[in-house]
Amino acid sequence: MKKVMLSAVAPSNRLTLGNYLGALKNWVNLQKQYDCLFFAVDMHAITVKQDPEELRRETRRAVATYIASGIDPKECTLFVQSHVPQHAELSWVLTCFATMGELGRMTQYKDKSAKQGAHIPAGLFAYPVLMAADILLYGTHLVPVGEDQKQHLELTRDIAERMNGLFGDDLFVIPEVYIPPVGARIMSLQDPTQKMSKSDPDPNSAIYLGDTSDQIIKKIKRAVTDSGSEVTWSDEKPGVKNLITIQCALTGKKPEEVVSGYAGKMYGHLKVETAEMVAAHLAPVRAEVERLMADTAYLDGVLKMGAQNARNRAQKLLDRVYDRVGFLPRS
Ligand code: TRP
Repeated sequence: MKKVMLSAVAPSNRLTLGNYLGALKNWVNLQKQYDCLFFAVDMHAITVKQDPEELRRETRRAVATYIASGIDPKECTLFVQSHVPQHAELSWVLTCFATMGELGRMTQYKDKSAKQGAHIPAGLFAYPVLMAADILLYGTHLVPVGEDQKQHLELTRDIAERMNGLFGDDLFVIPEVYIPPVGARIMSLQDPTQKMSKSDPDPNSAIYLGDTSDQIIKKIKRAVTDSGSEVTWSDEKPGVKNLITIQCALTGKKPEEVVSGYAGKMYGHLKVETAEMVAAHLAPVRAEVERLMADTAYLDGVLKMGAQNARNRAQKLLDRVYDRVGFLPRS
């Protein structure tokens, strides 16, 4: 039996080069090795204000981006969260076993709620419980998440262990963070000590997968580099290091190999060449996303198949949970 690996993306923001190189591209290499589930979390997206038409479009785009990056819908279970009602159902049960104190300590909640003024949606507070349901519903072993989501995964484990203690050790599989053997951590182009983030207010800090080649080239040429001029791989030169990391992720080369190609050259060369490599790499991905976005029948077909598969799998676990907590069987 293959181990279950699961990850999800919020459709509320456009994906960046960081998501692509750090996550998506890695998963493509893992999809045969693991039993993979990937989905777009539209129900998480509405914890903050959304435009309905935009949410629908971005949910499709998230799925199209998975496929364009090489995720094979025949190999993996690819779906949209709201198409599988078991996520909401399990989430309610878990809400009754998570505490106010735990949820109040979540740093993402603190950050996001601080931006909401006096009217903080309760959904923002409950967000990590829905994420726990996403994960626990499929007996997930491995969750490849970034630094910012580790606290949510820790909470998922705490809730699962607590309920296993009450209802039997075989109720939930305790999931673990998956740390990829090779994983590129791509940093902001404007502040290379920070991770490249899709929610950074400065559009020059991130390359979005939808950016045109011109935009990509301009942003990378304007990337903040460091003092000095020699291209070296060092923590003292985070800007230069970031560009080298991007090249490594695109070509599979080691940092030393990339650095040796710049002996006697300046930062400018590194910027221009990195810019052109990224633009050339992303152009076909972008074209494929657009092609898929126009092929609604195909995308809907993929999502229908994915949701059916996910619902069948999820119902088994949900039945067990409902039984253990004492709900009457549905006849
Ligand atoms: N909270 C995650 C993020 O913001 C998205 C997410 C929702 C997720 N459910 C998940 C990630 C389950 C991994 C597993 O990136």
